[in-house]
Amino acid sequence: MHGMSRRAVLAGGLAATASFSAAAPLLAADEAEQPLKDIAAARGLRYGSTAMASQLLAGDSFTNLVIREAAALVAENEMKWLHMSTAPFRSDYRVADCLVDFAAAHRLLCRGHNLLWYWTTPKWFKELSDRKAARAALLRRVTEMVARYRGRIDSWDVVNEPVDAAADRTDHLRADVFLKQVGPEYLALAHTAARAADPGARLVLNECGVEYDTPDMDRKRAAVLDLVETMRKRQVPIDALGIQAHLTVRRYPFSEPKLRDYLRRAAAMGLEIQITELDCTDNLAPADIPARDRLVADEYRRFLDVALDEPAVRIVMTWGLSDRYSWIVRHENTPEQWRPGGEEERPLPFDRDLKRKPAWYALAAAFAHAPRRERGVRREHPTAVEG
Ligand code: XIL
Repeated sequence: MHGMSRRAVLAGGLAATASFSAAAPLLAADEAEQPLKDIAAARGLRYGSTAMASQLLAGDSFTNLVIREAAALVAENEMKWLHMSTAPFRSDYRVADCLVDFAAAHRLLCRGHNLLWYWTTPKWFKELSDRKAARAALLRRVTEMVARYRGRIDSWDVVNEPVDAAADRTDHLRADVFLKQVGPEYLALAHTAARAADPGARLVLNECGVEYDTPDMDRKRAAVLDLVETMRKRQVPIDALGIQAHLTVRRYPFSEPKLRDYLRRAAAMGLEIQITELDCTDNLAPADIPARDRLVADEYRRFLDVALDEPAVRIVMTWGLSDRYSWIVRHENTPEQWRPGGEEERPLPFDRDLKRKPAWYALAAAFAHAPRRERGVRREHPTAVEG
């Protein structure tokens, strides 16, 4: 790709843009040659990706692609508690350090993912038999992690996926291991400890299942906003709402007004909004690759056109860059999301061979046409001075 002539890139870019949707606004010639991070930065937005330490340390063409396209980095798994801690109260920081060092060396903004997630909690924590010990373990996890990377992490997903809208609880908290072991105050405890350990890091509540127009997702959006409002009222520190944005082709209806309203209401509470894990499953799309890639790109564009209209959205992370490395392709998601015919899924902006796909052009066009954000505003932490 790097060796391509200007005309070849331009012709390829315009052809790909034109073929996946006649309605898509074309990119200017110079934009078709720029990396996504630059197209985003021109509008005051940041674009980044997840990666694994092994992919970054390889020093190969994929590593170079990350450096070229991304302005932000988040660890795919290596900062999750389960992955760091096998013995009670002990953690191994070596791999996490590598990722944070890589980000610093290449001037990438680093997101922290995540401090607590019910799905990746060490077995020993689940087995602690008294509440005091569990509370101490949770606080130690949060404080040690955040303090270790103080000043080097832009935003922390403090609790990943805390909400269960179907739960029979007025606080909408998921009946997870933290609720069981510590009690409902665990969320405020974690946020307060994170703020104390690094007053300059943005604290994010990261949720899935809020992107489409289904009764479940209606309830989820309402529950998340309700929870955040309660946190605000109780002065629990929180700076941003994370929307995972694991999209899916042809599975659910989409409602532009409902997504807009969700973003607007979060922004009205003074929160920044981060798109944290954007990708797209294609198991309900036809096997034909051009048709499939077009549907995936359309899904990206439809979502981003609405999301980027909201000025509080400042950062977009995709959950990987290339189909070579995706949890969807590795079938680490649920079996209903796997392609029935066994063809490899194509969820990300670059294909296995690191060639740009229609999804890349959808991201590029969405960034290029996004309303311009105020430059510099984001660098100031909203509540750092109070911390
Ligand atoms: C996924 C990773 O990509 C996989 O490698 C792992 O097997 C499971 O977790 N929501 C999240 C991410 O918040 O941490 C998940 O990442 C994807 C869903």
